[in-house]
Amino acid sequence: MSLKERIAGFEAELQGLVAQTAEEAEQLRVKWLGRNGIITGLFEEFKQATSPEKKELGQVMNRLKTAAQERIERIRAATAPSTSIEARAVDMTAPAATDFAGSLHPITLTRQRIVDVFERIGFTVSSGPEVEDDHHNFSALNFPPDHPARDMQDTFFVDHGHDLALRTHTSSVQVRVMEGGTPPIRTVSPGRVYRNEAISARAHCMFHQVEGLYIDKGVNFVQLKGTLDHFAKSLFGDEVRIRMRPSYFPFTEPSAEVDMSCTICGGKGCTVCKHSGWVEIMGCGMVDPAVLTNCGIDAGTYSGFAFGMGVERIAQLLYRVPDLRLYWENDVRFLERFSAEAFRR
Ligand code: DAH
Repeated sequence: MSLKERIAGFEAELQGLVAQTAEEAEQLRVKWLGRNGIITGLFEEFKQATSPEKKELGQVMNRLKTAAQERIERIRAATAPSTSIEARAVDMTAPAATDFAGSLHPITLTRQRIVDVFERIGFTVSSGPEVEDDHHNFSALNFPPDHPARDMQDTFFVDHGHDLALRTHTSSVQVRVMEGGTPPIRTVSPGRVYRNEAISARAHCMFHQVEGLYIDKGVNFVQLKGTLDHFAKSLFGDEVRIRMRPSYFPFTEPSAEVDMSCTICGGKGCTVCKHSGWVEIMGCGMVDPAVLTNCGIDAGTYSGFAFGMGVERIAQLLYRVPDLRLYWENDVRFLERFSAEAFRR
């Protein structure tokens, strides 16, 4: 095969060259343009050629060399790691990509929202210890000595004599506030409480409550109902309704359980309200005069109401949380949902 024919073959081959990586492109450059490469080899042969052909061959050779240089340069550019400004350009008008910077926990948010409602109508915020004695957690609140709540199965005692326990409810703070002050008393007491329960989607051994207490002259049940109706509407919207069912607590008489029209289905019936259209949100009642007396308040002069609600329950309804355990798992995919609200506050 003549040199001319071989050059024509290389020209054709050149058109089909490809490389996927910068390394492959470099191999091509060495093979074609390197010191021992194809083009150099061809020029060596060209030197041997006889003079009549030389002129024409020279032109063809130069064309091949230029074509090889251009082709390989293009392949190198296409496979080179890109550092051009265009390649690095960003869309300056795009919204900033924000990282999740943390948020308030849904229980904290809910506790704040509950407390806000009562603070706006004149309630103060009070607190008490989580390790509580029998007097504040049970006796002063009229729990008889054989009441089942005093059983080890319900209460985490922290001493052998069973005088100290992790408080089972925030009603203990009522006692402390009444013992330490004089009416009028309007206070809410948010805090953690503990019960010896198996952990499930619906129960936990530690949860949160907000207790409420109002003591003054002439406080009555209508005011209790009006206050709780205001609370439910403030948190869930004007369309919600509450109803009260007679119940029993040792420290209130009469006592009631408060239901709210289901905010998930609007009262039509769903799994959250067990198809009843109502969800229980708290217990309440008129403070038993015996409790007032136990706490040093003249039951002949003063009366009062009290209520206690579970924060997890309210949060479940506010944020549609299907399983109590989500509150404790600290899964960021769950917590992220609350970042917008946390920053609004
Ligand atoms: N302490 C009760 C509980 O943990 C809740 C409660 C009910 C509190 C009625 C109250 C009340 O103040 O009046 O289940």
